[in-house]
Amino acid sequence: MHAIVIDKPGGPEELRWREVPDPQLGPGDVLVDVAASAVNRADILQRRGHYAPPPGASPYPGLECSGVVAEVGADVEGFRAGDRVCALLSGGGYAERVAVPWQQVMRVPEGVDLVEAAALPEVACTVWSNVFMTARLRRGETLLVHGGASGIGTLAVQLAKAFGSRVVVTAGSAEKIARCLELGADEGINYHEGDFSERVQADVILDIVGGPYLMRNVRALKTGGRLVVIGMQGGSRGELDLGALLTRRASVHGTTLRARPVDEKGVIVRGVVENVWPLVDAGVVRPVIHSRVPMSEAAEAHRLLESGEHVGKILLVG
Ligand SMILES: NC(=O)c1ccc[n+]([C@@H]2O[C@H](COP(=O)([O-])OP(=O)(O)OC[C@H]3O[C@@H](n4cnc5c(N)ncnc54)[C@H](OP(=O)(O)O)[C@@H]3O)[C@@H](O)[C@H]2O)c1
Repeated sequence: MHAIVIDKPGGPEELRWREVPDPQLGPGDVLVDVAASAVNRADILQRRGHYAPPPGASPYPGLECSGVVAEVGADVEGFRAGDRVCALLSGGGYAERVAVPWQQVMRVPEGVDLVEAAALPEVACTVWSNVFMTARLRRGETLLVHGGASGIGTLAVQLAKAFGSRVVVTAGSAEKIARCLELGADEGINYHEGDFSERVQADVILDIVGGPYLMRNVRALKTGGRLVVIGMQGGSRGELDLGALLTRRASVHGTTLRARPVDEKGVIVRGVVENVWPLVDAGVVRPVIHSRVPMSEAAEAHRLLESGEHVGKILLVG
């Protein structure tokens, strides 16, 4: 098969479409003929040499895919050859074929075509696990989503609205805020125009900025609020006045999805299929796709993501 290979850490030009050995099918694995994958910010870090694949994962980038099942291992439950699926991966999505534990495989939601389905696994699993499982966002509560126009943000806005929350986003331009409002956000704050913590009080905050936002995020929490940090785009170190946390009886969580054991990913994936997929089936939640790039031109897709101009997901079509 062919896959995108990273020869050495560096820029997008290090991504090369090459012939490589087919993946090995383990007894618990589903072998997928990949229709599409999607670019995630973690792929950029991996390309630069800052985010090594976890032990046992494919060396090729790609944390999600869609496609058709080619073969299943002896212990696989619920899938067979010919099924149209999408999957949460630990790596290896930028390839013609990938082997993935069956617990991380999902049916393609209704009304979503096979290629579009590649835009959903990573964002749906990240938002479901962090906003709903960890932070337990409830109907009527306010969610603040930093980077509302990101792949993660566009799904978080739609899902939280569908579950009856008020949603406030931050973004870096009026155009991006307008797109978030179209997706259902109640309010948008341009983070270039002042301190968001003076404009919003939230029950739950989904943060991708990290260190520089830590204190402002805590200040923006209501009593009993929950801050979940899933990205450190601004840096990993910040200062926290614990007094501000204690008086709010608030909590700070940090998580990653990729390194979790298969069983934990399986619990998240089942939660997504039970709770998120019915909303996608009904057309209430939709994948937001910025563009489709041929997989062999992954370098171009990385340049596009790094330019920061996109809203939603960039697909890599096989
Ligand atoms: N921990 C996990 O398990 C996990 C899983 C998936 C993703 N993530 C993280 O989630 C983040 C989003 O991922 P993605 O793939 O959706 O990325 P993406 O589409 O590339 O989005 C990144 C976004 O960050 C926004 N941004 C940058 N600085 C900002 C700031 N100071 N305030 C608000 N927004 C800011 C950019 O928009 P503007 O133009 O508006 O600045 C852009 O929309 C990444 O940090 C990624 O590493 C974590």
